[in-house]
Amino acid sequence: MQASIADTLQRPLRDLRLSVTDRCNFRCRYCMPEEIFGSDYPFLSSEKILSFDEMERLTSIFASLGVQKVRITGGEPLLRKNLPELIYRLKLIKGIRDIAVTTNGSLLKKFASKLFNAGLSRVTVSLDSLDEERFHQLNGQRGTVASVLEGIEAASNAGLEVKVNMVVQKGKNDQDIVSMAKYFKEKKHTLRFIEYMDVGNSNGWRMDDVVTKQQILNKIGEVMPLEQIPPNYPGEVATRYRYVDSDEEIGIISSVTDSFCSSCSRVRVSAEGKLYTCLFASKGFDLRDLLRSNKADEEVAKVITDIWNHRGDRYSDERGNGTKKRSKVEMSHIGG
Ligand code: GTP
Ligand code: 5AD
Ligand code: SF4
Ligand code: SF4
Repeated sequence: MQASIADTLQRPLRDLRLSVTDRCNFRCRYCMPEEIFGSDYPFLSSEKILSFDEMERLTSIFASLGVQKVRITGGEPLLRKNLPELIYRLKLIKGIRDIAVTTNGSLLKKFASKLFNAGLSRVTVSLDSLDEERFHQLNGQRGTVASVLEGIEAASNAGLEVKVNMVVQKGKNDQDIVSMAKYFKEKKHTLRFIEYMDVGNSNGWRMDDVVTKQQILNKIGEVMPLEQIPPNYPGEVATRYRYVDSDEEIGIISSVTDSFCSSCSRVRVSAEGKLYTCLFASKGFDLRDLLRSNKADEEVAKVITDIWNHRGDRYSDERGNGTKKRSKVEMSHIGG
């Protein structure tokens, strides 16, 4: 039986979201706007980034504290050299039952089989529109819709389970909600609609830009009736809905209008080895120096336990109560 540690709200530590790079080949306006993340942006140099040895060691320490699920994020994780090797190594860690990768899909065609062969079982692909022009407007004129769809196809053919994430923004891509739903219903991939969030400090978020869970449900329900279904596991981020005429489903991630902090068991580690106890945290705790000193695993585990035991984050539950003034970690540092 694995150990289990709890925070101040009695939430266990179960999921690790591990960022493997802060770089990305896209420039989505809500995450890495071009004017801030330009050619002179000081991305992390390679010696500042955790090595695979360090990530493997850290993951096994997290596993000893109750983590069962690892999600590899970025930036764009497929830009990290030899990523399949990391998957292979993490998969062997006792207690880790599930590994997934969140990707923009542009390099998935190239890596799908290698990832599957390394032991990966599923990927989540971000795609905000099927319309080439809107896709480009949203992601800073990078890549093509076709290459992402080919990546999804390749992943599915390789044997990976595929989910698709669409961040919905009013006036930017809400006209694509139904076409995306229809397309992925037909392709039999679960599509999850994400309410646009105020992550980081650079996306100029306004409540007026949010399309709510209820609005999304209404739009789809008018064309393809839906019914809510139970979560796959306790604390699942997305609320699940099934089309009444098929077994296909969608998910809605409603951090803004229906938050889910009370069951949040997620810890995030940035590529440079900083631990964040919330997606909206202002400050991370440096684990890299600890890993690079001659501390034993037990000592590192003790530091993490202490941080988790003091955790009281519930940003989305408190959103609006003066949270606006906070400085927050950037999405590209902790991968969502
Ligand atoms: P499954 O393991 O397939 O259930 O995936 P998941 O929903 O845990 O992970 P995924 O990376 O697909 O999450 C989708 C999006 O939900 C993220 O990119 C974030 O935008 C949002 N999200 C995930 N976790 C949290 C969280 O703890 N808080 C908030 N506010 N949003 C989150
Ligand atoms: N609000 C909601 N989701 C976001 N993502 C990135 N920035 C935001 C935001 N501001 C999503 C991406 C991807 C995942 C990593 O997080 O589209 O699906
Ligand atoms: Fe890159 Fe994903 Fe951020 Fe877009 S949302 S810039 S694809 S990391
Ligand atoms: Fe967890 Fe923070 Fe998201 Fe709430 S806002 S669900 S505490 S990461």
